[in-house]
Amino acid sequence: MKITLAQIADAKELAELAASNNYSAHWSPSAFTSELGLPAAKIYKATNTSTNIIVGFVAFRLSPPQAELTNLVVQKTSLRQGVAAKLLAFAFEDLKANKVKEITLEVNVNNKPALNLYGKFAFKTVNIRKNFYNKEDAALMLKQI
Ligand SMILES: CC(C)(COP(=O)(O)OP(=O)(O)OC[C@H]1O[C@@H](n2cnc3c(N)ncnc32)[C@H](O)[C@@H]1OP(=O)(O)O)[C@@H](O)C(=O)NCCC(=O)NCCS
Repeated sequence: MKITLAQIADAKELAELAASNNYSAHWSPSAFTSELGLPAAKIYKATNTSTNIIVGFVAFRLSPPQAELTNLVVQKTSLRQGVAAKLLAFAFEDLKANKVKEITLEVNVNNKPALNLYGKFAFKTVNIRKNFYNKEDAALMLKQI
């Protein structure tokens, strides 16, 4: 597996991946295309080097010294193999090099896998946003990098 920055040519594949579960933001191919065109956005992708298929991605909006994690998905058949952990570790190093010192994110309070993942990376819940996802609450989490 290798981790690199996503390009506009990846928009369709990323959109298919984003649509594959309930907890990610379901950005369309054109939403990915415009996101990837923004200087303030960075999307890191994990690619299976044997098949060349994108198995996960994580997206950020940068406003140094802050950045917001805006989307994260790992392909269903690649779960629990450390893909998300590798994506985050790689992204945080690159963001540090881009003068980012603090990461924020919102996560559904019922999304146990993601809450565990962020807990493992020492994110702390700093606020609860009521009914942020229709009727479900979001935890606003923060971490210094
Ligand atoms: C959350 C998600 C990105 C994790 O991806 P992953 O590649 O399977 O995660 P990793 O294998 O890197 O796991 C890292 C840690 O996350 C936690 N974790 C991941 N999946 C978990 C699960 N199903 N149950 C409990 N904890 C889990 C664990 O702490 C795990 O460490 P461990 O394997 O040593 O116990 C993935 O489940 C996913 O795509 N979910 C749907 C989209 C989503 O929720 N995005 C986040 C939006 S804020």
